Amino acid sequence: MVSRMSLERKVAQLIQPQINSFDAEEMREYRWGSYLNGGNGGPYGDEFAPASEWLRLADEMWDASTQPLPDGEPIIPTMWGTDAVHGHTNVVQATIFPHNIALGATGDPDLVRLIGAATATEIEVTGIDWNFSPTVAVARDDRWGRTYESYSEDPELVAQMGAALVEGLQGKKGAEDYLGRGRVIATAKHFFGDGGTDQGVDQGDVNGDIDALKSIHAVPYPVAIEAGVETIMASFNSINGTKMHGNEALLTGVLRGEMGFEGLVVGDWNGHGQIAGCTVSDCPQALMAGLDIYMVPDDAVALHSSLVAQVRDGTIPEARVDEAVARVLRIKQRAGLLGPDAQRPSARPNAGEYDKLGMAPHRAVAREAVAKSQVILKNDGVLPLKPGADILVAGVAADSIAQAAGGWTLTWQGGRELTNDYFPGATSIWAGIEEAAQESGGSATLSADGTFEERPDIAIVVFGEEPYAEFAGDRKNLIFADTEGLELLRKFEEQGIPTVSVFLSGRPMWVNRELNASDAFVASWLPGSEGAGVADILFGAKAATGKLSFSWPANCEGNPLNGPDGALFALGYGRSLDDTAPLGDLDEGCGFLDGAPAADWFVNGRLSAGISASAGGMDLPNLRGEGGGVVARGIDRNRQEDARELTFGPDSSFTVSGEGEGAYIITYNLPAAPAGTVTIASGERTEDVTRRMTVAAGKGWREMVLTEACLGEFGDGLTIATNAPLQFSIAQISRSTLPEGTECSF
Ligand code: BGC
Ligand code: BGC
Repeated sequence: MVSRMSLERKVAQLIQPQINSFDAEEMREYRWGSYLNGGNGGPYGDEFAPASEWLRLADEMWDASTQPLPDGEPIIPTMWGTDAVHGHTNVVQATIFPHNIALGATGDPDLVRLIGAATATEIEVTGIDWNFSPTVAVARDDRWGRTYESYSEDPELVAQMGAALVEGLQGKKGAEDYLGRGRVIATAKHFFGDGGTDQGVDQGDVNGDIDALKSIHAVPYPVAIEAGVETIMASFNSINGTKMHGNEALLTGVLRGEMGFEGLVVGDWNGHGQIAGCTVSDCPQALMAGLDIYMVPDDAVALHSSLVAQVRDGTIPEARVDEAVARVLRIKQRAGLLGPDAQRPSARPNAGEYDKLGMAPHRAVAREAVAKSQVILKNDGVLPLKPGADILVAGVAADSIAQAAGGWTLTWQGGRELTNDYFPGATSIWAGIEEAAQESGGSATLSADGTFEERPDIAIVVFGEEPYAEFAGDRKNLIFADTEGLELLRKFEEQGIPTVSVFLSGRPMWVNRELNASDAFVASWLPGSEGAGVADILFGAKAATGKLSFSWPANCEGNPLNGPDGALFALGYGRSLDDTAPLGDLDEGCGFLDGAPAADWFVNGRLSAGISASAGGMDLPNLRGEGGGVVARGIDRNRQEDARELTFGPDSSFTVSGEGEGAYIITYNLPAAPAGTVTIASGERTEDVTRRMTVAAGKGWREMVLTEACLGEFGDGLTIATNAPLQFSIAQISRSTLPEGTECSF
């Protein structure tokens, strides 16, 4: 087939744009070999589109890619890849499985295999062919924002779980249903070293002796290859200064040579553009290093033309293109996408059977995984909960399915602004507890702020990290700084009400204060849509078997911890329900707590702990969402979603508040002059800034410095108000003590 294809069609097989950057017309013209939906992409621009729309788009693109070609060129149907990293969670109603860190805690590869199979079926419902999962990163520095995508810090456990997911998704190599009905193409990612970067910085550099690095970070790959994984994704990180996308010695020498991988290597989101000397639309280096498919979300046409030119002028030997194309076609062949039996997406098994999304048997597997992943770190005897008890359930996370699901859930970052209405058929942790309490003859009351009229027998406090994905989750230390849970626990403690903490997090964190203030403490990770699995453990309906797949830190520093030294709870720790041995009082000292509060209020797309944003009295979690006439959405400044665009309606206002000292420094962009009056208020004073903003408008990103010279006394925050529609974007808000008398500037 390859020999009958034109150079243009061959190169197109190696290019993978994202769904919101091209249409069927372009597909018919170029015949992209594959395409993806990004974490923020949905069919026809709607992230929350019903499953039928996903399938409609799959059909539309398939039809466009299979139109007859002149000169008897072979017709090569396109294929669609997605990040179903914890279930098919870009799609509303899909089963949301716990993230990998939790699956590591189950220690149960058979369960992971079932999760893979259930996920594959749900993917097929929407006509999609290919899953960019499993992540087989071995996270060794838990400050990394993708730690939760890692099964364990232990390479062997990662290898075992990764291979199990591959088998669940693709079927067993050689089995009759391999890549057949209920199976999709899997991807082991990100090759390699993603979990080993310096200080856990996402996409950073991994340093050290190459054999030593391989003995940790490359361990899962031969095992995944043995399990039949058809594709491997190159990693964003560098190794000893060389970006993986351009690292021929590792991408070809090690992966093909030593490990014998014969499938295809796909790039990560514009990852090739990070190679020295490359741009996203011009990068022969990646193909030459061993990449087969460029993931190039928005610049497919430009990349296509540069690659074609580079083959024509001899920069790229055509044989290298042919080799890569053959790999793509071979996988399509294996997946049944080529030849006379190939079917349009909607005609394939499971396609269009929408009731299979989130179907009961899949949710049962997820619930089982939740129960098996709960790790009990402390229990002074309050667990299992007594039948008939009156239980108070506190914490804003308790009834937030989005928070329990974490990142890569409906949107790329996920987030509490996704209310429970976005999750039909799902059960929050609170709802699971309520049902179990009633079944036991007792009662449960939800009270996010912990207030009550009737004194409960016991309080369950659900709290933890708010969702994040990729670099937005990178941290400088492992302190769990948000004190909402701690304050609730201490309040109950003062009132003599025993407590159980349910801690939601994408990594182990320093929670000594919370552990001290709780009678029982459960590391619940990111359980997903089947919150009832938490109650299964709390009430003792199921035995507690979850064991830590990561070492849990004794101090808050966040230095890499991969072994018993410095661990409060070592790898493998997890109590059974009858283990009530006292934990003892833990040291609550933490250097990071003594200094001045974080000076950055909003940076890299994250609102810092303790800082809140609101509009017209409505909370905007992580500075996103809608309220009081203001819409705040994530936009890209330097990186994906590292800034926010605020669209103000008439007579609306936006407030950011918290504790801090010194001037406010705001990096902002005002595309157009204000149509009405704009004021900034802090403390007692309100300043009309219309004129200053008019001057700043249209000049791109700038810094606004607000000192006492124009604000008067610094209050606990700022309010920006306007009487007419206004667009205003923010990339950073910081506090800093400036020399006395510093003027305000815009
Ligand atoms: C991530 C990958 C993901 C890809 C497509 C990248 O930013 O690193 O894990 O598969 O985007 O969404
Ligand atoms: C996309 C993700 C991708 C990320 C890369 C986001 O905008 O939605 O799929 O992984 O960018 O940084």
